[in-house]
Amino acid sequence: MTDTKKETENHRLSVADLRPLTGAGKKLYVETYGCQMNVGDSEILIAIMQREGYRYTEDIAQADVILVNTCSIRDNAEQRIWGRLREFHRYKKARKGLIVGIVGCMAERLREELLERESIVDIVAGPDSYRDMPRLVALAASGAHGVNVQLSEEETYGEIRPVRLDKNGVSAFVAIMRGCNNFCSYCVVPYTRGRERSRDPQTILREVTELFEAGYREVTLLGQNVNSYRWEHDGQTVTFPDLMERVAAVSPLLRVRFATSHPKDLSDRLLEVMAARPNICRAIHLPAQSGSDRLLKAMNRKYTREWYLGRVAAIRHALPDCAITTDLIAGFCGETEEDHAQTLSLMREVGYDSAYMFKYSMRPGTQADRHMTDDVPEEEKVRRLNEIIALQNDLSLASNRRDVGKRFEVLVEGPSRRSGEQLCGRTSQNKMVVFDAREGIAAGDYVTVRITDCTSATLLGEVVAE
Ligand code: SAH
Ligand code: SF4
Ligand code: F3S
Repeated sequence: MTDTKKETENHRLSVADLRPLTGAGKKLYVETYGCQMNVGDSEILIAIMQREGYRYTEDIAQADVILVNTCSIRDNAEQRIWGRLREFHRYKKARKGLIVGIVGCMAERLREELLERESIVDIVAGPDSYRDMPRLVALAASGAHGVNVQLSEEETYGEIRPVRLDKNGVSAFVAIMRGCNNFCSYCVVPYTRGRERSRDPQTILREVTELFEAGYREVTLLGQNVNSYRWEHDGQTVTFPDLMERVAAVSPLLRVRFATSHPKDLSDRLLEVMAARPNICRAIHLPAQSGSDRLLKAMNRKYTREWYLGRVAAIRHALPDCAITTDLIAGFCGETEEDHAQTLSLMREVGYDSAYMFKYSMRPGTQADRHMTDDVPEEEKVRRLNEIIALQNDLSLASNRRDVGKRFEVLVEGPSRRSGEQLCGRTSQNKMVVFDAREGIAAGDYVTVRITDCTSATLLGEVVAE
């Protein structure tokens, strides 16, 4: 009896291994849009499908099943995907029996409407239904539509080992939580991804340890609001700073990053943990969205400009060499010229190292859609966004110029995009550095680089002896 049990465990046999696999060698192609969470989800989806006997291909022409992992964050993200779906008609014609599935945030938002609007769509699956994908594909193969847009309060895909799609083998993203409870009034994410839930820390640590053992040297812990990570089990609570401590302890050679931090939840304890661990990177992405208190209130961000600046001051105090980056929205409902000027002044006051900057896009069903008016004219949104971008270019250049002459430890990622004789890698502050390749330096190595020049986007440097 014991022997049989041991045998079973050794071979990891399960009932699933004894029945015919539904995939039976069929080829799966996955195209991913949107944020890093989506990239991570595609890796999980591929793992689930491989377990069922599907084989992953990067060649769409070979595919028996095409899955498009979609994004709804702004209207242009969705328009791009509609355009892409129209192109799929020719693949459908060329390959009989080809199955097309739309998954992710746009699938969750539009549900059956996707089937009605685009005839080539066979499957619609929301972000919490990927375990059900083999069944949905089987349904589609039998001529029916496969639809599952059920959101879950528990699903984290915690124990699934994602199939890594990154090319460099040096830095990886690890999802630590899913969903969002913040309901910023402009944002569709709480509707497409459902309630916030945290992943079992044991599975996170196992994944990170395996990545390190496989040669990875950097992990970015991902969630819509990582600071509210919270795992409660058997009377024990693991918070985000606790988790960071544990992940950073995997190895001093492993760099740890995280994204994204909601300013309202950035704790002093996290800053202490960061200060005590040099391998936790000196970079905090702290989306402000706006510099105007009136707009922050309308956006339901739950902090004021003063409070935000207080958090920036706390970061500067605890981590003097920490980069601070942000997200900004131009032209939200009711934004006046004065509000816009406040955003520009916040940018100058913080001196952001870089920023993601967006033109407000009304999203159906959000609080802004239901209770406010998208009243900033398009050309005004464009002008304000351009002013924000121009200012950020100056700030990024100034930030990079301050680094010229300094030395940084750089984690090498691989050949530079521009020239095969150059390598690129990042500083702890997450700035990209390009430098001449040298014999013996490879991806995954740490090198000391002296910065000799810069643009607003990149640092240029030379490797020096430590
Ligand atoms: N959870 C992250 C953000 C995820 S979305 C956070 O809260 O920081 C990434 C960025 O997209 C947001 O920070 C915001 O700047 C932008 N964004 C979200 N909804 C938008 C909309 N409707 N129009 C324009 N930009 C939007
Ligand atoms: Fe959207 Fe706000 Fe949640 Fe970020 S915190 S995902 S902006 S609702
Ligand atoms: Fe887009 Fe969904 Fe991410 S809307 S930004 S893919 S969470």
